[in-house]
Amino acid sequence: MRKPLIAGNWKMHKTAAEAAEFGDAIRGLLNDVEAVEVLVCPAFPALHALGEKLHGTPIRLGAQNMHEASHGAYTGEVSAAMLKDAGCTYVILGHSERRQLMGETDERVNAKVKAAVEAGLYPIICVGESLEQRQAGETEVVVAGQVRAALKEVPADAVATTVIAYEPIWAIGTGETPTPEDANKVAGAIRAAVADMFGVDTAEEVRIQYGGSVNADNIAAFTAQPHIDGALVGGASLTPDSFANIVKNTEAKAS
Ligand code: PGA
Repeated sequence: MRKPLIAGNWKMHKTAAEAAEFGDAIRGLLNDVEAVEVLVCPAFPALHALGEKLHGTPIRLGAQNMHEASHGAYTGEVSAAMLKDAGCTYVILGHSERRQLMGETDERVNAKVKAAVEAGLYPIICVGESLEQRQAGETEVVVAGQVRAALKEVPADAVATTVIAYEPIWAIGTGETPTPEDANKVAGAIRAAVADMFGVDTAEEVRIQYGGSVNADNIAAFTAQPHIDGALVGGASLTPDSFANIVKNTEAKAS
């Protein structure tokens, strides 16, 4: 059975002090969570402060991006080893905001995925179609293509622990979502693409999240779908109560 993963993506929000405050609250709210894996991904400067608060809890720490090189003259960048050292277990890669606003290509995402797994970080690979692509009926082709590109030449034994987040771009931060059935259909296409590359057994282990305007009220309908194994949560992950309620509503379905 795949354990659902609820991950908070804070984007460019919260200072170290604000992250520590969140950490104090969330550890009280989710200290005995078992059926769901919980992850919080703050901005780099808050990793340490949040990590200290999460220490000794089942809640994991992750980052929102990294550079593919192990070290070198890359001003402003952060390596996988640095994230591991800061206490990260996971790293979000290829978020649509990075693809659209920072020019991250499929090739770049692939290089980052390879560097992450080599360093022992679990990648959360984000894929998703634009509104124009959806309206043109291209969703599954686009998303499967992003998955194939991101996983190209990734060692097969690392793929099972890779997470893929299906995030339709038009659903991010808009309050709009696909229907759970629709999201499940795309998640199924993602799993089929992984099966085609690495075999059915591996594909059955890969966790596929839904992301885009997830909240405590709609999470259960998404995670009830057979191919959806949790969520990547932006706005609703910023307050401890709202994030904890998302986890609790997932847990209710998982246990
Ligand atoms: P949202 O963001 O939950 O605020 O829509 C999701 C994401 O971008 O990961």
